[in-house]
Amino acid sequence: MTQRRSLVLGCGAYLPARVVTNDELAKTVDTSDEWIRQRTGIRERRFAAEGELTSSMATTAAQGALDMAGLNAKDVDLIVCATATPDETFPSTATRIQSNLGIERGAAFDIQAVCAGFIYALAVADNFLRLGQAETALVIGAETFSRILDWEDRTTCILFGDGAGAVAMRAATANGSAREPGLLSTHVYSDGRHHDALYVDGGPSSTGTVGHLRMEGREVFRHAVVRMSEAIDAALEANNLTPGDIDWLVPHQANLRIIDAMARRLNLPQDRVVVTVDRHANTSAASIPLALCEAVHDGRVQRGDLIMMEAMGGGFAWGSALLRW
Ligand code: UT7
Repeated sequence: MTQRRSLVLGCGAYLPARVVTNDELAKTVDTSDEWIRQRTGIRERRFAAEGELTSSMATTAAQGALDMAGLNAKDVDLIVCATATPDETFPSTATRIQSNLGIERGAAFDIQAVCAGFIYALAVADNFLRLGQAETALVIGAETFSRILDWEDRTTCILFGDGAGAVAMRAATANGSAREPGLLSTHVYSDGRHHDALYVDGGPSSTGTVGHLRMEGREVFRHAVVRMSEAIDAALEANNLTPGDIDWLVPHQANLRIIDAMARRLNLPQDRVVVTVDRHANTSAASIPLALCEAVHDGRVQRGDLIMMEAMGGGFAWGSALLRW
């Protein structure tokens, strides 16, 4: 039976120029390169320059995705930007990106699911495309977490970085086979009881300030592998696939130990797992599209490959997306 499916035609990425090593952080924070590497796998991260915005990074990533897809900005009738660090409280960062790209039609809005934001944004855009409410979408993850870190809190400030990644998607007809290209499924979940494990202690309706990120790392860690494994199982089951069918795991990049645990669970060799946490640290909603883009552009990911994406973060919110590239 013919149905609509979302094809991912291109991806783009942007990383700020400024590299900040663990040693540089250790000059002002009570930490060490050794501790950070051992506990997280992070070697360095990028921080946005003064005046560099979530929207400006996102616009460059989005333009890269359009270029690779061979699409014109005028083709785009949907922009979904996943971010927890928008330029302003309102309007959405997506509308800024829309304007930066010279797009004057369609819908543009933000999605807020923190580190799971890109999976949520894919889910929303996929539903728009499959139902015919849009034809061509930009799905973006973009963050400037460096602006919400507490530099007095060594348990969190060493973990995050800035950046943006994007994919350009277009609706196409398909026969429903998991062998055909496109987004096969998305699964998204949340459980608000875990608010206190990972949140920002500010906001327009609570304190009137921007606030700082707070996290009980061990608590998040404990839940992450279990929740993301459940989301992966749901994706495989929905598509009648097994872990052995996965060509690439493109996980959220929070901690190398979590990524390794996910790979072990899927019995995937390390060279089938895309890792950027060592160089990008945790870029929240941007981490999956940044990793995907790196593996596409360096030739690891080939057309026809099956890509499993998964993430979990504040909320808790988590999910998976399965893509036939
Ligand atoms: O993207 C959203 C999802 N987020 C995540 O998935 C993050 C999940 N959590 C984690 O990645 C890890 O829990 C962390 C990397 C945040 C922490 O690693 P951990 O192995 O869970 O360490 P811990 O919190 O149990 O701390 C161990 C020790 C503590 O000292 P004591 O109490 O044992 O004396 C900390 O005070 O390490 C200490 N510590 C540090 N030492 C040097 C904590 N942060 C640092 C630091 N440098 N930056």
